[in-house]
Amino acid sequence: MRPHYLVAFLTLLLPLAAAALFTDRFWKPIENISDPHVIKAAEFAVSKYNTRVIQKLVFQSVVGGTQMFASGIIYDLVFTAKNESLPSSTAKYGAGIWEKYFPQPMVLMGFGKAKN
Ligand SMILES: *[C@@H]1O[C@H](CO)[C@@H](O)[C@H](O)[C@H]1NC(C)=O
Ligand SMILES: *[C@@H]1O[C@H](CO)[C@@H](O)[C@H](O)[C@H]1NC(C)=O
Repeated sequence: MRPHYLVAFLTLLLPLAAAALFTDRFWKPIENISDPHVIKAAEFAVSKYNTRVIQKLVFQSVVGGTQMFASGIIYDLVFTAKNESLPSSTAKYGAGIWEKYFPQPMVLMGFGKAKN
């Protein structure tokens, strides 16, 4: 059986928001990348990513992003992180995080290395 959040995710997201996700005009730049919510979302993405990999990342700072409102906020963030095993290896990563109002606070929608 699939996790409940996935069912909730699909129910809420389709068909309305699914189309919106790919529509630029629904995304707004994040004005304050020091906002604790934004940083929490980025830290969440890194910790969630780290549960699936052997070489872990250490979050550094958010450098930019956009957001969209959909039963909460969907963040599309760019941030810097270091490869835990290579201390001088700061790189940019991107992640999609959905911070829902209810029932589960955050869902990692995607994670990857960002283009520089
Ligand atoms: C951005 O958010 C931080 C943390 O809440 C706050 O200290 C700072 O004043 C905010 N900056 C602006 C420009 O709103
Ligand atoms: C971290 O470095 C190791 C060793 O070079 C590499 O195998 C791994 O893919 C790197 N992890 C990330 C997320 O870049």
